[in-house]
Amino acid sequence: MSSVSDSLDEQLSPPSFSDGGRELRERIRELGEWFHNLNLHGVPTAPHHFLGDFPNIKWRQIAHAIPENLSGATVLDVGCNAGFYSIELKKRGARRVVGIDVDDRYLKQARFAAAVLGVDIELEKCSVYQVDRIAGGFDYVFFMGVFYHLRYPLFALDRLIKKVGGKLVFQTMVRGSQEADRWEDDYPFSNTEIFEQRNFPAMYFIEKSYSNDPTNWWIPNRSAVEAMLRSSGLEIEAHPEPETWICRPVAALRDGQYILDRELEGSL
Ligand SMILES: C[S@@+](CC[C@H](N)C(=O)[O-])C[C@H]1O[C@@H](n2cnc3c(N)ncnc32)[C@H](O)[C@@H]1O
Repeated sequence: MSSVSDSLDEQLSPPSFSDGGRELRERIRELGEWFHNLNLHGVPTAPHHFLGDFPNIKWRQIAHAIPENLSGATVLDVGCNAGFYSIELKKRGARRVVGIDVDDRYLKQARFAAAVLGVDIELEKCSVYQVDRIAGGFDYVFFMGVFYHLRYPLFALDRLIKKVGGKLVFQTMVRGSQEADRWEDDYPFSNTEIFEQRNFPAMYFIEKSYSNDPTNWWIPNRSAVEAMLRSSGLEIEAHPEPETWICRPVAALRDGQYILDRELEGSL
């Protein structure tokens, strides 16, 4: 696997604009298939995206729920891909934006896009599972479109919560029931009916592939998303569109220790 820094100089040097955008289009093409449709000085990076003008269409639905002025704020964008959210949040004045991803191709695209747009963001190859490597907490943690790509989603959420100093902006694919019910604290062993109810928290496990993507592993229904967010110690403050929740940590620690650490040492 090539390292992100292999062709760093090449990625960071913005193309010439004196040729009507020919070099820009060529460099975009050389960076492979893009998942983010960025507007690089009028040139779209993924004009034929299967979800339309993505993630612009998603951002338009949630942008109002994030402060227009992020002056002084710090942002961690987990699974940043080609940097769409990192760039948008930097444009809102965030002091520090760190984008992490596990995919070199996407990180190279993000570096290129940031250089072309003249946006100062930090990009690092790092998995959500290793987010402890990044020092400190962040005012905003964006965790968009990654949860269902993980084999260990709750482990990742419990680890990531340590980085959330202010708010977590969480987005996942949702399938099954879109209704969120609250449930009793406990049910007797003999109660099997709850599991027949469509709204009961559930995740669909994809053994092979969904939407032609073998990295789609666990797809929750709405109740499951909200139950897991609460169970990880988050309070849901807003739900600006069907796949996105904005939360803040209120009970991430139990007796002074994070839930994940207690679980790992067997004291939860
Ligand atoms: C569906 S894309 C979402 C991209 C972007 N966050 C968005 O919402 O448009 C999923 C991204 O998560 C990244 N990813 C997958 N597993 C990851 C992991 N364990 N840690 C960090 N990023 C991961 C992928 O490389 C990809 O860029």
